[in-house]
Amino acid sequence: MALTTIDLKPRVGSQIDTDRATLLSGSVAAKIRALLVQRGVVIVRGVEMNDAQQRAFTRTLGDLRLGTVKKEGEEGLMKVTFDKKENPAYAEFFPGTFFWHMDGTYEEIPPFATVLTPRVLSPSGGQTEFANNYAAFEDLPESEKAFLEKLQVVHTMQASQLPATPGATVEQFALWHSYPVRTHPLVWTHKSGRKSLVLSTSASHVAGMHPVESHALLQRLMSWATQPQYVYQHSWQMNDLLIWDNTGTMHRVLPYHMECGRRLHRFTLNGEEAVVGVTRQ
Ligand SMILES: [Fe+2]
Repeated sequence: MALTTIDLKPRVGSQIDTDRATLLSGSVAAKIRALLVQRGVVIVRGVEMNDAQQRAFTRTLGDLRLGTVKKEGEEGLMKVTFDKKENPAYAEFFPGTFFWHMDGTYEEIPPFATVLTPRVLSPSGGQTEFANNYAAFEDLPESEKAFLEKLQVVHTMQASQLPATPGATVEQFALWHSYPVRTHPLVWTHKSGRKSLVLSTSASHVAGMHPVESHALLQRLMSWATQPQYVYQHSWQMNDLLIWDNTGTMHRVLPYHMECGRRLHRFTLNGEEAVVGVTRQ
């Protein structure tokens, strides 16, 4: 069936007009997957789904993640909230979400996509922003692309968490260090043939590069990739359904009152390809 699609920004984000029954039928799943790769973020407004329906819809798009380094519980449901009663295992990691990141950079195969819907809105703030790392790479000068394609970047949980928790305790450092350290190419050549920057606050350093140069390069690329033309900012309304391609975008949440009870429910799709760099003959 034809889907009405509206571009939200020229380089990132599309809104589609459909209904719950169509989404649950799976008949538009292939189109949504294609849109995700092209546009990074897909949004449907005014679709009320309970957790079971959201889970079923997520399954139409790929392989539902039921558990990973830490078990997500409740058959794949992750409650995104600072309320420790709602999410005791993860709430302390969520301050890191105020900084641009990809999910799961400490994994060999990062998650493909995530489906998010709000259950409790924040009275102010709390918009989620998405940056298109495909477009940001494509716009770089060719000489710089060739240089960046040779680099490998080390990702750590400490790098992703310390900016949000500068007064971290010894116990917090120990927890962060319990996560794997992962090295990925800086430029991902996807199965689709498109290339994207693998950027995230979790990027600790460029392997083999002087720390001063490495820091300058990663910070400059982060500034480049998060320019307004690559970013879509989503202001949440109840019954929004938002899906993003985690492999080709970064995301972050804008500040909001951490005691306000804001809660989003998310289901995640397992990754389908490792981060592969350019193979040169
Ligand atoms: Fe995230």
